[in-house]
Amino acid sequence: MIESIQHRRSIRKYLPEPVSPEKLRAVLEAGRLSPSGNNKQPWQFIVIQSAQQRQAVMEVCHNQTWMMTAPAFIIAVADIAARVEVEPGLYLDENSPHLDLKCAIRDTAIAVGSMLLEAYAQGLGTCWVGFFDQAEIRPVLGIPDDKYVLGVIPLGYPAEQPAARPRKAMSEIVRAETW
Ligand SMILES: Cc1cc2nc3c(=O)[nH]c(=O)nc-3n(C[C@H](O)[C@H](O)[C@H](O)COP(=O)(O)O)c2cc1C
Repeated sequence: MIESIQHRRSIRKYLPEPVSPEKLRAVLEAGRLSPSGNNKQPWQFIVIQSAQQRQAVMEVCHNQTWMMTAPAFIIAVADIAARVEVEPGLYLDENSPHLDLKCAIRDTAIAVGSMLLEAYAQGLGTCWVGFFDQAEIRPVLGIPDDKYVLGVIPLGYPAEQPAARPRKAMSEIVRAETW
């Protein structure tokens, strides 16, 4: 496991080959099996492969044109309806203070982390893309206003092998017994 964690990289250049359905399914399975608070599993995953949908999503991700080299995107959506009853007309976005939204985002982030590692294990590259606004990305995909888009994950066979990006030293992040 530590080998996978050490060698996974964010990939921003992909080969044009489509992702095999078996590998795509394995990645989604890693998300499906992830842990969540109260086992509520408040995640939904939208798989998009058409050039038209990828283009529209890429544009609302502030035109990160490299994304178009990836043959598939997984859109990870946090759904608080898996945790609480949602009142009609609820609108959630980056400024929403709801505790259940934070919990659903936390759980969906765990699922995405697992998916990135399974993709790596399958020989696929990924790059978590979080640079978009809820108000812009939701209409592109027909996502209701009470769902929160956590991330777009372009995936495909890597066409680059970037060097490791730096990480903080253990001594900068680990404390003993108290803060
Ligand atoms: C929540 C999140 C959002 C990110 N959003 C973007 C993004 O919008 N565009 C991008 O190119 N990379 C994005 N990244 C990738 C990070 O830049 C990358 O993980 C970081 O620089 C470390 O590199 P590594 O993943 O290769 O170790 C995002 C990563 C995370 C975890």
